[in-house]
Amino acid sequence: VGHIDDVQELRKAKPSTIPERFVRDRTERPAQVATLSQSSDIPIIDFSKLSRGNKEISHMEILQLTAACEEWGFFQVINHGVDLNLLESIEKTAMDFFMLPLEEKQKYPMAPGTVQGYGQAFVFSDDQKLDWCNMFALGIEPQYIRDPKLWPKRPASFSETVEVYSKEVRKLCQNLLEYIAISLGLKGDVFENLFGVAVQAIRMNYYPPCSRPDLVLGMSPHSDGSALTVLQQGKGSSVGLQIFKDKKWVPVQPIHNALVINIGDSIEVLTNGKYKSVEHRAVTHNEKDRLSIVTFYAPSYDVEIGPMRELVDENNPCKYRRFNHGEYSKHYVTNKLQGKKTLDFAK
Ligand code: SIN
Ligand code: FE2
Repeated sequence: VGHIDDVQELRKAKPSTIPERFVRDRTERPAQVATLSQSSDIPIIDFSKLSRGNKEISHMEILQLTAACEEWGFFQVINHGVDLNLLESIEKTAMDFFMLPLEEKQKYPMAPGTVQGYGQAFVFSDDQKLDWCNMFALGIEPQYIRDPKLWPKRPASFSETVEVYSKEVRKLCQNLLEYIAISLGLKGDVFENLFGVAVQAIRMNYYPPCSRPDLVLGMSPHSDGSALTVLQQGKGSSVGLQIFKDKKWVPVQPIHNALVINIGDSIEVLTNGKYKSVEHRAVTHNEKDRLSIVTFYAPSYDVEIGPMRELVDENNPCKYRRFNHGEYSKHYVTNKLQGKKTLDFAK
């Protein structure tokens, strides 16, 4: 990514028109936003009810979880147990990083076809449209996926904060997957047993304001290649995340201190489509910037996945083939973001 494609630099330069590379074709522009209503807000799951409530309360919450995963593929989790100070410090650390001079950030360049370091991922041709977003991403677990050269030296607290945050979010993912298994009528440990040492990555997305939010996208429509994704939205951020439901784009209203969870492609495949990996995108704002911090949690690369036997029968014939998750990951990161097309790999 050259100087000119860095959206923070572009914002500073204030060109009179948005460069062509960012201007979406008419049909892709963000205009068609579903109107906000109570009923279209994504479900809220109270984690403390799942984990600490009495049997009846946790059973009720499990039913909510089932409905959320079947109908939305997205929910916001409250009382999630991740230290709130940690949410604050990861946000500050990420912001401090993005506010560094471009030369400093470019010491950690994202290589083409990878999603680690600073830059724009998923760009493979000169005529492909670019997202109005700067990304910084790191592989976290297992240790061997880490590239120490890409861990920033500034801000000084960066590595430690990412480390501590990632440990806590990993626990949340493991706990949520246990409840998700139970919500499917399966044993709580099925995913843990299947996943091996789960792959975890973190991606920070910074969306500067854009003078023409009607022409650009912060992030192209896609479904996540993970099993589960945990998304933290910056406190002062504009509303930007939208999910595709009933043929409309529904904005996700941030809830103070909540985390947004979504089902990724692996869980869709494993559940034979019962739980959906839902398409989503991000839009920009003309005055406000936006930060999101995203954790991806996925099976170990050597694991083979396919619909689980328990979820396939005459009424629910097998919808996906079996495949190696590492191959899927590779397929995912070497293609542009294009809605749910990436999952055609599994058909
Ligand atoms: C993502 O889907 O990875 C990011 C969307 C967002 O910034 O909310
Ligand atoms: Fe995503």
